[in-house]
Amino acid sequence: VTIRSTCAYFHVYISAQSSTSPTPSSVSSLCTLFSCFQYQCVQLKCKSAHHFHFDVMAARSAKPKTGILMLNMGGPEKLEDVHDFLLRLFMDTDLMKLPVQNKLGPFIAKRRTPKIQEQYSKIGGGSPIKHWTSMQGEGMVKLLDEMSPETAPHKFYIGFRYVNPLTEDAIEEMEKDGVERAVAFTQYPQYSCSTTGSSLNAIYRYYSNRGDRPKMNWSVIDRWPTHPLLVECFAEHISNELLKFPEGKRDDVVILFSAHSLPMAVVNRGDPYPQEVGATVQRVMERLGHCNPYRLVWQSRVGPMSWLGPQTDEVIKGLCERGKKNILLVPIAFTSDHIETLHELDIEYGQVLGEECGVENIRRAESLNGNPLFMKALADLVQSHLKSNQPCSRQLTLRCPLCTNPTCGETKAFFASQTLT
Ligand code: FES
Repeated sequence: VTIRSTCAYFHVYISAQSSTSPTPSSVSSLCTLFSCFQYQCVQLKCKSAHHFHFDVMAARSAKPKTGILMLNMGGPEKLEDVHDFLLRLFMDTDLMKLPVQNKLGPFIAKRRTPKIQEQYSKIGGGSPIKHWTSMQGEGMVKLLDEMSPETAPHKFYIGFRYVNPLTEDAIEEMEKDGVERAVAFTQYPQYSCSTTGSSLNAIYRYYSNRGDRPKMNWSVIDRWPTHPLLVECFAEHISNELLKFPEGKRDDVVILFSAHSLPMAVVNRGDPYPQEVGATVQRVMERLGHCNPYRLVWQSRVGPMSWLGPQTDEVIKGLCERGKKNILLVPIAFTSDHIETLHELDIEYGQVLGEECGVENIRRAESLNGNPLFMKALADLVQSHLKSNQPCSRQLTLRCPLCTNPTCGETKAFFASQTLT
């Protein structure tokens, strides 16, 4: 009841603000407030959240010079969205190739829906990824307006691959807003053709299906595995969590950096992801002065195929069998909480498996979520990227040596040929 009343109050307040001419910073502050309350509203299915959204967006009416498209896979906000999320995922031929995909994809999505809905119901009924991305985007553009007035006003857009707001809809909105300079900014620090590659292919296909050249000048931030502020954030979250172990055990803690695994077929065609995740881990441990022993492990394997290992659950079991019973899990390849942290790491491994194996202490480092230093990292990445005047990294121009997906080549050519003024 309190939250509903608060929503109504802010709804009126923001509406009143938007009828005047708000300054960019007052709008940003309102948007940050809005982000906090919107999430609570969504959890309670409170309709005011949607009214909020439109009022605040209307207030941000100044024509954005620079649009930053934050790319990610996204996650279902509500249990009813799980099926469509899975359907888009299993139909994504850039992510996976299935025999008779247009039949098998829908079949697998339907079959897996109840199980995945049950998992989401245990973490509050939906994914918090849109909430965190909105908050990170707000923080980032607020900083950018101050740090880089020559490219202001900046506006962020969310482009998810498998749920709303979809990448294609976000591009349409950017074009409608009259954005001059568009930055496709992957929210995966380490590049994989299955994740960032799939999002970039979606941007290329949007224009190629329309048979049209973009009105905006596009460039890409395609990877940032060793950005110093990213490394700093991870190190800070690990240090904070280590302090929560009993003092006498702290030195014995094994740090397990856990990243989403990949099928070996993807690794063996030359995908750069495993090496880039390793680079992040190396920098973070350097920053921590190699305070504890550590391993890089891989989670979330599905299906009968061979996947990159060692698997996180098997490593936890193996460590416990060898007397290493104090473990710190660190999600290293995703920056916001999602089902793989909140359900897989916290519930499946931290609670169920930990008890089965007889761990003494198992904890998880917090995801970067609303850390202001992380927003600074995002703003710094965009500012340096805009200054560099480069359409993409040199690394993006090279296809995987054994790539068989022709769209990858077309996408790379599309971005590499963008003219920046
Ligand atoms: S799969 Fe990597 S470039 Fe095509």
